[in-house]
Amino acid sequence: MSNITLHTLTERKAAGEKFAVLTAYDATFAHLVSSAGVEMILVGDSLGMVLQGHDSTLPVTLEDMAYHTACVARGNRGAMIMADLPFMSYATAEQAMSSSAALMQAGAHIIKLEGGRWLCDSINLLCERGVPVCAHLGLTPQAVNKLGGYRVQGRSRESALKMIEDARMLEEAGASMLLLECVPSVLAQEITLNAGIPVIGIGAGVHTDAQVLVLQDMLGITPGRRPRFVKDFMAESDSIEAAIRLYAEQVRNSSFPSKEHGFE
Ligand code: KIV
Ligand code: NA
Repeated sequence: MSNITLHTLTERKAAGEKFAVLTAYDATFAHLVSSAGVEMILVGDSLGMVLQGHDSTLPVTLEDMAYHTACVARGNRGAMIMADLPFMSYATAEQAMSSSAALMQAGAHIIKLEGGRWLCDSINLLCERGVPVCAHLGLTPQAVNKLGGYRVQGRSRESALKMIEDARMLEEAGASMLLLECVPSVLAQEITLNAGIPVIGIGAGVHTDAQVLVLQDMLGITPGRRPRFVKDFMAESDSIEAAIRLYAEQVRNSSFPSKEHGFE
Protein backbone atom coordinates (compact mmCIF):
# COMPACT_ATOMS: atom_id res chain seq x y z
CA MET A 1 0.00 0.00 0.00
CA SER A 2 1.36 3.44 -0.85
CA ASN A 3 1.63 5.89 2.01
CA ILE A 4 -1.57 7.64 3.04
CA THR A 5 -1.18 11.38 3.65
CA LEU A 6 -3.36 14.28 4.67
CA HIS A 7 -3.67 15.03 0.97
CA THR A 8 -5.05 11.52 0.28
CA LEU A 9 -7.67 11.83 3.01
CA THR A 10 -8.74 15.35 2.05
CA GLU A 11 -9.23 14.13 -1.52
CA ARG A 12 -11.29 11.20 -0.24
CA LYS A 13 -13.62 13.64 1.48
CA ALA A 14 -13.94 15.77 -1.65
CA ALA A 15 -14.76 12.63 -3.67
CA GLY A 16 -17.33 11.51 -1.09
CA GLU A 17 -15.29 8.38 -0.30
CA LYS A 18 -15.23 7.25 3.33
CA PHE A 19 -12.13 6.01 5.09
CA ALA A 20 -11.45 3.82 8.11
CA VAL A 21 -9.48 4.52 11.27
CA LEU A 22 -8.60 2.06 14.07
CA THR A 23 -6.53 2.39 17.21
CA ALA A 24 -3.34 0.39 17.64
CA TYR A 25 -0.73 0.70 20.34
CA ASP A 26 1.96 -1.77 19.28
CA ALA A 27 3.94 -2.92 16.24
CA THR A 28 2.11 -6.22 15.67
CA PHE A 29 -1.35 -4.68 15.49
CA ALA A 30 -0.06 -1.64 13.59
CA HIS A 31 1.29 -4.05 10.97
CA LEU A 32 -1.99 -5.98 10.79
CA VAL A 33 -4.24 -2.91 10.70
CA SER A 34 -2.20 -1.07 8.07
CA SER A 35 -1.70 -4.19 5.93
CA ALA A 36 -5.47 -4.71 5.94
CA GLY A 37 -5.83 -1.31 4.24
CA VAL A 38 -7.11 0.79 7.13
CA GLU A 39 -6.11 4.31 6.14
CA MET A 40 -5.25 5.70 9.56
CA ILE A 41 -3.98 4.32 12.87
CA LEU A 42 -4.84 6.24 16.01
CA VAL A 43 -2.41 5.82 18.88
CA GLY A 44 -5.13 6.86 21.30
CA ASP A 45 -4.74 7.75 24.94
CA SER A 46 -7.46 5.10 25.34
CA LEU A 47 -4.37 2.97 25.93
CA GLY A 48 -4.67 4.17 29.53
CA MET A 49 -7.74 1.98 29.85
CA VAL A 50 -7.07 -0.69 27.21
CA LEU A 51 -3.41 -1.43 28.01
CA GLN A 52 -2.81 0.05 31.44
CA GLY A 53 -6.10 -0.83 33.12
CA HIS A 54 -6.90 2.64 34.42
CA ASP A 55 -10.53 3.77 34.59
CA SER A 56 -9.89 6.97 32.61
CA THR A 57 -7.31 8.45 30.23
CA LEU A 58 -6.05 10.99 32.79
CA PRO A 59 -3.02 9.01 34.12
CA VAL A 60 -1.48 8.60 30.63
CA THR A 61 1.81 10.50 30.25
CA LEU A 62 3.56 12.04 27.25
CA GLU A 63 6.31 9.43 27.70
CA ASP A 64 3.69 6.65 27.45
CA MET A 65 2.33 8.18 24.24
CA ALA A 66 5.78 8.63 22.69
CA TYR A 67 6.70 5.01 23.53
CA HIS A 68 3.55 3.55 21.94
CA THR A 69 3.75 5.88 18.94
CA ALA A 70 7.30 4.65 18.27
CA CYS A 71 6.13 1.01 18.57
CA VAL A 72 3.29 1.64 16.10
CA ALA A 73 5.55 3.49 13.68
CA ARG A 74 7.90 0.49 13.49
CA GLY A 75 5.08 -1.89 12.58
CA ASN A 76 3.18 0.45 10.29
CA ARG A 77 2.91 -0.33 6.57
CA GLY A 78 1.71 2.87 4.91
CA ALA A 79 -1.14 4.09 7.12
CA MET A 80 -1.21 7.65 8.43
CA ILE A 81 -0.40 7.71 12.16
CA MET A 82 -2.30 10.01 14.49
CA ALA A 83 -1.19 10.29 18.12
CA ASP A 84 -3.09 11.77 21.06
CA LEU A 85 -1.60 14.51 23.20
CA PRO A 86 -2.40 13.24 26.73
CA PHE A 87 -4.13 15.07 29.58
CA MET A 88 -2.44 18.38 30.58
CA SER A 89 0.30 18.09 27.95
CA TYR A 90 -1.17 21.02 25.96
CA ALA A 91 -2.47 23.39 28.63
CA THR A 92 -0.60 26.25 26.94
CA ALA A 93 0.39 26.80 23.31
CA GLU A 94 4.12 26.42 24.10
CA GLN A 95 3.44 23.19 25.96
CA ALA A 96 1.34 21.93 23.03
CA MET A 97 4.29 22.61 20.76
CA SER A 98 6.92 20.78 22.81
CA SER A 99 4.55 17.85 23.49
CA SER A 100 3.68 17.59 19.79
CA ALA A 101 7.36 17.64 18.87
CA ALA A 102 7.92 14.55 21.07
CA LEU A 103 5.11 12.62 19.33
CA MET A 104 6.08 13.72 15.82
CA GLN A 105 9.68 12.66 16.49
CA ALA A 106 8.38 9.31 17.75
CA GLY A 107 6.69 8.77 14.38
CA ALA A 108 3.29 10.48 14.39
CA HIS A 109 2.12 12.21 11.20
CA ILE A 110 -0.61 14.24 12.91
CA ILE A 111 -1.46 14.93 16.53
CA LYS A 112 -4.91 15.04 18.16
CA LEU A 113 -6.01 17.19 21.07
CA GLU A 114 -9.33 17.55 22.86
CA GLY A 115 -11.32 20.76 23.14
CA GLY A 116 -13.07 23.66 21.46
CA ARG A 117 -12.26 27.24 20.57
CA TRP A 118 -9.75 27.70 23.41
CA LEU A 119 -7.36 25.56 21.31
CA CYS A 120 -7.26 28.01 18.39
CA ASP A 121 -3.98 29.70 19.37
CA SER A 122 -2.24 26.36 19.93
CA ILE A 123 -3.52 24.98 16.63
CA ASN A 124 -2.39 28.08 14.79
CA LEU A 125 1.09 27.83 16.29
CA LEU A 126 1.42 24.09 15.52
CA CYS A 127 0.06 24.45 12.03
CA GLU A 128 2.49 27.25 11.16
CA ARG A 129 5.37 25.11 12.40
CA GLY A 130 4.39 22.16 10.23
CA VAL A 131 2.48 19.99 12.69
CA PRO A 132 -0.96 18.93 11.42
CA VAL A 133 -3.67 18.85 14.09
CA CYS A 134 -6.93 16.98 14.57
CA ALA A 135 -9.34 18.63 17.03
CA HIS A 136 -11.51 16.24 19.09
CA LEU A 137 -14.97 17.62 19.95
CA GLY A 138 -18.11 16.31 21.64
CA LEU A 139 -17.38 13.78 24.37
CA THR A 140 -13.78 14.61 25.27
CA PRO A 141 -12.72 11.86 27.72
CA GLN A 142 -9.88 13.88 29.29
CA ALA A 143 -12.61 16.22 30.57
CA VAL A 144 -14.74 13.41 32.04
CA ASN A 145 -14.67 14.92 35.53
CA LYS A 146 -15.86 18.26 34.21
CA LEU A 147 -18.50 16.64 31.98
CA GLY A 148 -19.79 14.53 34.87
CA GLY A 149 -19.44 11.18 33.13
CA TYR A 150 -19.18 9.65 29.68
CA ARG A 151 -22.32 11.03 28.09
CA VAL A 152 -23.61 12.20 24.72
CA GLN A 153 -22.75 15.86 24.00
CA GLY A 154 -24.52 18.51 21.91
CA ARG A 155 -28.05 17.41 22.72
CA SER A 156 -29.40 20.87 23.61
CA ARG A 157 -29.81 23.43 20.86
CA GLU A 158 -27.44 25.78 22.63
CA SER A 159 -24.65 23.20 22.99
CA ALA A 160 -25.16 22.04 19.39
CA LEU A 161 -24.79 25.58 18.05
CA LYS A 162 -21.69 26.06 20.18
CA MET A 163 -20.13 22.87 18.76
CA ILE A 164 -20.89 23.95 15.18
CA GLU A 165 -19.18 27.29 15.87
CA ASP A 166 -16.24 25.57 17.63
CA ALA A 167 -15.73 23.34 14.58
CA ARG A 168 -15.72 26.35 12.28
CA MET A 169 -13.25 28.27 14.45
CA LEU A 170 -10.90 25.27 14.81
CA GLU A 171 -10.81 24.78 11.04
CA GLU A 172 -10.15 28.47 10.55
CA ALA A 173 -7.31 28.28 13.10
CA GLY A 174 -5.67 25.62 10.93
CA ALA A 175 -6.98 22.24 12.11
CA SER A 176 -6.49 19.62 9.39
CA MET A 177 -9.13 17.22 10.73
CA LEU A 178 -11.94 17.01 13.25
CA LEU A 179 -13.05 14.08 15.38
CA LEU A 180 -16.54 13.94 16.85
CA GLU A 181 -17.26 11.54 19.72
CA CYS A 182 -20.75 10.72 20.98
CA VAL A 183 -22.81 13.46 19.38
CA PRO A 184 -26.26 13.18 17.78
CA SER A 185 -26.06 11.99 14.15
CA VAL A 186 -27.78 15.07 12.74
CA LEU A 187 -25.33 17.39 14.48
CA ALA A 188 -22.35 15.37 13.18
CA GLN A 189 -23.89 15.51 9.71
CA GLU A 190 -24.18 19.29 9.82
CA ILE A 191 -20.60 19.76 11.08
CA THR A 192 -19.31 17.37 8.37
CA LEU A 193 -21.19 19.25 5.63
CA ASN A 194 -19.86 22.61 6.83
CA ALA A 195 -16.25 21.41 7.13
CA GLY A 196 -13.70 21.55 4.31
CA ILE A 197 -11.50 19.13 6.29
CA PRO A 198 -12.16 15.42 6.95
CA VAL A 199 -14.36 14.64 9.95
CA ILE A 200 -13.89 11.32 11.79
CA GLY A 201 -16.75 10.02 13.93
CA ILE A 202 -17.24 7.60 16.82
CA GLY A 203 -20.77 7.33 18.12
CA ALA A 204 -21.56 10.18 15.73
CA GLY A 205 -23.64 8.42 13.07
CA VAL A 206 -22.93 7.41 9.49
CA HIS A 207 -22.61 10.86 7.92
CA THR A 208 -19.04 11.70 8.97
CA ASP A 209 -16.22 11.28 6.41
CA ALA A 210 -14.59 8.48 8.42
CA GLN A 211 -15.16 6.22 11.42
CA VAL A 212 -12.89 5.20 14.26
CA LEU A 213 -13.16 2.43 16.85
CA VAL A 214 -10.90 1.10 19.55
CA LEU A 215 -9.40 -2.11 18.11
CA GLN A 216 -10.06 -4.23 21.22
CA ASP A 217 -13.70 -3.05 21.23
CA MET A 218 -14.34 -4.08 17.61
CA LEU A 219 -12.64 -7.44 18.24
CA GLY A 220 -15.09 -8.02 21.09
CA ILE A 221 -12.40 -8.56 23.75
CA THR A 222 -12.94 -5.47 25.91
CA PRO A 223 -14.08 -6.56 29.38
CA GLY A 224 -17.34 -5.23 30.79
CA ARG A 225 -20.20 -3.39 29.17
CA ARG A 226 -19.77 -2.44 25.53
CA PRO A 227 -20.71 1.13 24.54
CA ARG A 228 -23.66 1.51 22.18
CA PHE A 229 -21.52 2.69 19.24
CA VAL A 230 -19.31 -0.43 19.24
CA LYS A 231 -19.83 -3.38 16.91
CA ASP A 232 -18.10 -6.73 17.41
CA PHE A 233 -16.72 -7.56 13.95
CA MET A 234 -15.21 -10.85 15.18
CA ALA A 235 -18.73 -12.22 15.53
CA GLU A 236 -18.93 -12.42 11.72
CA SER A 237 -15.26 -13.19 10.97
CA ASP A 238 -12.95 -16.16 11.39
CA SER A 239 -9.75 -14.18 11.94
CA ILE A 240 -8.63 -10.85 13.35
CA GLU A 241 -7.48 -9.79 9.89
CA ALA A 242 -10.88 -10.66 8.40
CA ALA A 243 -12.63 -8.66 11.14
CA ILE A 244 -10.46 -5.61 10.40
CA ARG A 245 -11.12 -5.94 6.65
CA LEU A 246 -14.86 -6.30 7.27
CA TYR A 247 -14.85 -3.15 9.42
CA ALA A 248 -13.01 -1.15 6.73
CA GLU A 249 -15.39 -2.42 4.06
CA GLN A 250 -18.50 -1.59 6.10
CA VAL A 251 -17.17 1.91 6.83
CA ARG A 252 -16.49 2.50 3.12
CA ASN A 253 -19.93 1.32 2.00
CA SER A 254 -21.69 3.07 4.91
CA SER A 255 -23.21 -0.10 6.33
CA PHE A 256 -21.41 0.67 9.60
CA PRO A 257 -22.49 2.42 11.72
CA SER A 258 -26.19 1.66 11.50
CA LYS A 259 -28.87 3.55 13.44
CA GLU A 260 -28.57 1.30 16.49
CA HIS A 261 -24.92 2.45 16.96
CA GLY A 262 -25.77 6.16 16.95
CA PHE A 263 -27.65 8.78 18.93
CA GLU A 264 -30.66 10.70 17.66
O1 KIV B 1 -8.07 7.49 22.56
C1 KIV B 1 -8.82 7.07 21.67
O2 KIV B 1 -8.83 5.86 21.32
C2 KIV B 1 -9.70 8.03 21.01
C3 KIV B 1 -10.81 7.51 20.16
C4 KIV B 1 -11.80 6.73 20.94
C5 KIV B 1 -11.44 8.56 19.36
O3 KIV B 1 -9.51 9.21 21.18
NA1 NA C 1 -8.16 9.72 22.91
